[in-house]
Amino acid sequence: MASQSEHKATVIDGKLIAQTIRSEIAEEVRQLSEKYGKVPGLAVVIVGNRKDSQSYVGMKRKACAEVGIQSFDMDLPEQISEAELVSKVHELNANPDVHVFEQSIVILAGILVQLPLPKHINEEKVLSEISLAKDVDGFHPLNIGKLAMKDREPLFQPCTPKGCLELLHRSGVSIKGKRAVVVGRSNIVGLPVSLLLLKADATVTVVHSRSNDQESIIREADIIIAAAGQPMMIKGSWIKPGAAVIDVGTNAVDDPSRKTGYRLVGDVDFNEACKIAGCITPVPGGVGPMTVAMLLKNTLEGAKRVIVQ
Ligand code: GUN
Repeated sequence: MASQSEHKATVIDGKLIAQTIRSEIAEEVRQLSEKYGKVPGLAVVIVGNRKDSQSYVGMKRKACAEVGIQSFDMDLPEQISEAELVSKVHELNANPDVHVFEQSIVILAGILVQLPLPKHINEEKVLSEISLAKDVDGFHPLNIGKLAMKDREPLFQPCTPKGCLELLHRSGVSIKGKRAVVVGRSNIVGLPVSLLLLKADATVTVVHSRSNDQESIIREADIIIAAAGQPMMIKGSWIKPGAAVIDVGTNAVDDPSRKTGYRLVGDVDFNEACKIAGCITPVPGGVGPMTVAMLLKNTLEGAKRVIVQ
């Protein structure tokens, strides 16, 4: 192996891989429209005015348009009650899929409720009201439950975790039998990605804020999934030489040299890690674009279950 000073990890280009997947989806959507006169639709629900959520939702809507998926905007006020939000979800569940768009019928295949929700709304309650067949985020308790169980398959897998595994797969990193360490145990990323890795036959350890000796556990990993939300917490010296590093962190840190006054960094110290890891995702341009691509993929899959009988 090259000495540490000259080693340079392969940088996994998530933007390029996501673009390839989006082209594959666009082609499938085109074929569905041509063959059946039907296209997938996705309802994108956002509550309140959080800047980060609005930016994510904007990206999701734009990506839908690019691949021919029809998105339906539902922008709801911060003060909406839980009961009103649940009733909106029920309306979308019951949507009879009869919108006509450019001579195709739109099948409302997916419902996405952007998280986090305002504090007065019980997220668990709202997510459990989404129709299982339209749960393209894969956050319904039954979908998550099936993800956790051996020999059971959820209808949808959560988008960011699915994107992490797709990045490994498309970068030629095998998972079976490997030691994977997930850093973070959130409902959106850490927990479900650990379940997906387990399904893919990795030996999985989850490190979290209360774990003792995080550094030495992480150093054992062939595959690191960093999803702690802590800017640059994982140093180069914590990484096993040649490991695959997927950095889910998207942290804004002050940077007076930038016009915006900030820049985005991951949970991994990228420059240090590049000298040790085998391959690594950058921030931005790594996992982020894959989350959106997997949402489109789930929506397409949901629509195909309805359209192609
Ligand atoms: N907030 C942060 N990530 C996600 C996601 O993948 N889906 C939803 N609905 N909300 C999020």
